[in-house]
Amino acid sequence: MGDAFEAGWLELREPVDSESRARPLERLLYERLRDRTRLAVADLGAGTGSNLRHLAPRLADARGGVQHWTLLDADPVLLADVPGRIRTWARARGYAVVPKDAGLEVTGRAEAPFTLDIASQQSDLSADPLPVGRVDLVTGSALLDLVSREWLQAFAARLRDSGAACLIALSYDGQIAWQPQIAGDDEVMRLVNRHQRGEKTFGQALGPDGGAVAAAELESAGFTVETAQAPWRLGPGDQALQQHLHAGWAAAASEAAPHRAEAIRAWLERRMDLLESGQGQVTVGHLDVLALPPD
Ligand SMILES: C[S@@+](CC[C@H](N)C(=O)[O-])C[C@H]1O[C@@H](n2cnc3c(N)ncnc32)[C@H](O)[C@@H]1O
Repeated sequence: MGDAFEAGWLELREPVDSESRARPLERLLYERLRDRTRLAVADLGAGTGSNLRHLAPRLADARGGVQHWTLLDADPVLLADVPGRIRTWARARGYAVVPKDAGLEVTGRAEAPFTLDIASQQSDLSADPLPVGRVDLVTGSALLDLVSREWLQAFAARLRDSGAACLIALSYDGQIAWQPQIAGDDEVMRLVNRHQRGEKTFGQALGPDGGAVAAAELESAGFTVETAQAPWRLGPGDQALQQHLHAGWAAAASEAAPHRAEAIRAWLERRMDLLESGQGQVTVGHLDVLALPPD
């Protein structure tokens, strides 16, 4: 919930993120990019590369060809993890991996043969929202809750000038629904959302409004915008992710209202007990945003 993200947390959420993403928006994107045999992609706030691992093989299914990915993130520790994680992921799928320049080249076969040319670039996106040359697709995941309205306005203008399509997945939308419900749920959700709107690396964060404000700004900039819900639906089988998530929520809520720390600790204990006994389910709302430039 702070400004630094642990690789372990990103790893825990990767399979659930992948399952939750809105497939209809992805299909519209693949349709738009189908004819390109070479595709340049910028991944904003890429972390350890989870967004690439989801999208690249699906883009390859739709069109084969060559994809040049630039993974942009401010955190050198996360970027240092990218090659190892890409290698493990690629080999598990029978793709070949070789070092190339300062990055990696992955080759494989989906519906057609494909090549992924992958480079990382340490960049503070708060200073420049799109620090890359010409790209066809700008993408990102779990990013928009961190950004400010001013940043989104600057980003929308840069994206329009670039002519690229844009898919930003999995922006937390402020909705958390537990089953069973217990005392304190509503308060924790409210405090988490207040914490989300605090000062982050991009200035005053939009928190749960990030996805909706991005959609509005991109539409104002002339894009055709589609949004779709992409909720996480977590059950007792997602215990490690849920434990991490609930601990993070409790920490954020206590930071937002230190005088409620005792009550929040009691809430967390009850939630952890429920999880231990195989009962906790939680749905966490996310919004996916697709913006297509004029044809
Ligand atoms: C929730 S993580 C998402 C990572 C990855 N997209 C994923 O889905 O696993 C948010 C990412 O944004 C990056 N980030 C935060 N502020 C940034 C900034 N000002 N410039 C560039 N990256 C930033 C963090 O380092 C982190 O990797």
